[in-house]
Amino acid sequence: MSEPVLVALRGASFAYEDGPTVLSGLDFDVREGRALALLGRNGSGKTTLMRLLSGGLRPHAGELTVEGLPVAYGRKGLTRLRTTVQLVVQDPDDQLFAASVAQDVSFGPLNLGLPDAEVRARVDEALAALDITALADRPTHLLSYGQRKRTAIAGAVAMRPRVLILDEPTAGLDPDGQERLLATLDGLRASGTTVVMATHDVDLALRWADDAALLTPSGALTGPVATMLARTDLLQQAGLRLPWGIAATQLLRAHGLLDDTAPGPRSPDELAALATAHTTPPVPADG
Ligand SMILES: Nc1ncnc2c1ncn2[C@@H]1O[C@H](COP(=O)(O)OP(=O)(O)O)[C@@H](O)[C@H]1O
Ligand SMILES: [Mg+2]
Repeated sequence: MSEPVLVALRGASFAYEDGPTVLSGLDFDVREGRALALLGRNGSGKTTLMRLLSGGLRPHAGELTVEGLPVAYGRKGLTRLRTTVQLVVQDPDDQLFAASVAQDVSFGPLNLGLPDAEVRARVDEALAALDITALADRPTHLLSYGQRKRTAIAGAVAMRPRVLILDEPTAGLDPDGQERLLATLDGLRASGTTVVMATHDVDLALRWADDAALLTPSGALTGPVATMLARTDLLQQAGLRLPWGIAATQLLRAHGLLDDTAPGPRSPDELAALATAHTTPPVPADG
């Protein structure tokens, strides 16, 4: 994990009005190019943390930095932050408001004061990335939940952020919708976007993320996903169960079917590949 820290919270504390302290003295790093899964039990502060990272909330103590520089919460500073970090909230209906898909997606770039041609190019690009070009003129209230979710993500992508933060993006999607979303996120990662997602799905986190951050009452602990999600003590604190891929890895190792240094399976396909490698007889050297 030597990639540069792009966005960070330093000693950040936050409490809602009339509410208990949600986060206290929190240090949190988003490293460039590392896919990060944010995990923790309900009410542990995942959404609050994401809103602090994207500037929607301001820490009461501590600071938010971008490439080491403190964020200024004035108009200019926040505009700069929004071209670096974009948050997609959990419920698309909290994000969408324009009459049509294209209008909604164009809102952010228009607000940046970009020329029309540039706005159009960005909207086209974002709609294509989310595979919703055909929905451009569709009224947002006539879309399915999955389509609304894609539209909300396209609106964030049109800002060309360096960091895209998604709050439980797979919640409410059917299995096919989840797969399509992961493929979309892979595409965004390949084009250089750093992606952070909050999720309760440990299997998804293991398969998708490079790193996992576990939000517990004693703070956030971040590390390589396969290491973090094998820590049963932390999982218990965070109200999570062991991912099946980790359980399978432990079983394979216990039976001498996987080297201690070899990576374990993170998906059914990877487990199948391991099984095939073990059951296929070696091809004789002389053919
Ligand atoms: N707008 C709000 N006003 C008051 N309390 C809130 C608000 N949003 C969240 N909380 C409280 O803050 C804590 C953290 O919530 P949240 O960040 O939504 O956690 P998570 O996303 O991990 O479920 C919870 O105790 C929640 O009840
Ligand atoms: Mg939440």
